[in-house]
Amino acid sequence: MNVLVTGGAGFIGSHVVDALLAAGHRVSVVDNLWEHGGGRMENVHPQAQFYQLDVRDEALAQVFERERPEVVCHLAAQHSVKLSIDDPVHDAQVNLLGLINLLQSCTRFQAHKVVFASSAATYGEAPPEWMPLDEGTVQSPRSPYGITKLASEHYLRFWKDEHGLDFTILRYGNVYGPRQDPAGEAGVIAIFARAILLGEPVRIDWDGEQQKDYVYVQDVARANLIALDRGDDEVFCIATGQGSSVNALYRHLTAIVGRESEIVHAPKRPGDVYLSYFDCRKAREQLGWQAEVSLEEGLRFTVDHFRSQLQM
Ligand SMILES: NC(=O)c1ccc[n+]([C@@H]2O[C@H](COP(=O)([O-])OP(=O)(O)OC[C@H]3O[C@@H](n4cnc5c(N)ncnc54)[C@H](O)[C@@H]3O)[C@@H](O)[C@H]2O)c1
Repeated sequence: MNVLVTGGAGFIGSHVVDALLAAGHRVSVVDNLWEHGGGRMENVHPQAQFYQLDVRDEALAQVFERERPEVVCHLAAQHSVKLSIDDPVHDAQVNLLGLINLLQSCTRFQAHKVVFASSAATYGEAPPEWMPLDEGTVQSPRSPYGITKLASEHYLRFWKDEHGLDFTILRYGNVYGPRQDPAGEAGVIAIFARAILLGEPVRIDWDGEQQKDYVYVQDVARANLIALDRGDDEVFCIATGQGSSVNALYRHLTAIVGRESEIVHAPKRPGDVYLSYFDCRKAREQLGWQAEVSLEEGLRFTVDHFRSQLQM
């Protein structure tokens, strides 16, 4: 199949590109290597046709005209909650106007499906008694980022009704693994792995017992691959079904690295939730997908990646 991956130079997108190429698909990438994102030229697979381009740019139509993608995996985004609060205009421009520009090209050049990277941020601060989150849980986003991701889901439904463009919405848990930007705000595993390897202090907010559902990036990439031709016009939660606390991540990572780090305690960050994990039965039943990489394995792969990077 001919697939376009937006954000394909970024953390998750580059793993999606790897999985697509390994499965024999033809892949092109659109990414503007935004300075505050995780996009890096060295993440771009040499077999992918790369276009350094903003998804808001009208030249996107020329990429569609040339590449004629059948399916688009749309991962390009402004994905920082903090940045979305500080600059909601940029957030809406990239996450909404960029999406609309993409959808218009899909219609004009007869792409037939979009696989969309949505987020747990669309649920907002769901209370612990609502856990596990599933596809039917009420979505009540509390940040511009969560709002633009939820609005994107609605745009996809509208585009299906109005123009017949299929979609699959994948709502990811907390994705981690090699190539995650250790300078990003959400990548606690990347941040901890790098700090522990370097012998630097780690910061633990709140009491460290807050739990989230951490899913390994190759499992997420495989969900994108499966969604190329399954799960049309449906939403799926893509995570492990288990919460892990920040303290537990710290313990696992120090055991893997074989060294402790100084812990600096800090208060709760605004918007942090105490318990969040998913029910992924729908993905298992309808996509035949489930997370395969255990937390222990995934953390090991991640530490190996950062160790080899630091030795470069
Ligand atoms: N990392 C997570 O845990 C997580 C969880 C849920 C959803 N997501 C979503 O998954 C997607 C990928 O996230 P990631 O963690 O890999 O982040 P990332 O920053 O590594 O990847 C995003 C990519 O989009 C590119 N980009 C940003 N603005 C662009 C623009 N205007 N035009 C073209 N390209 C642009 C960046 O250069 C980057 O390469 C995002 O849509 C994000 O919202 C991520």
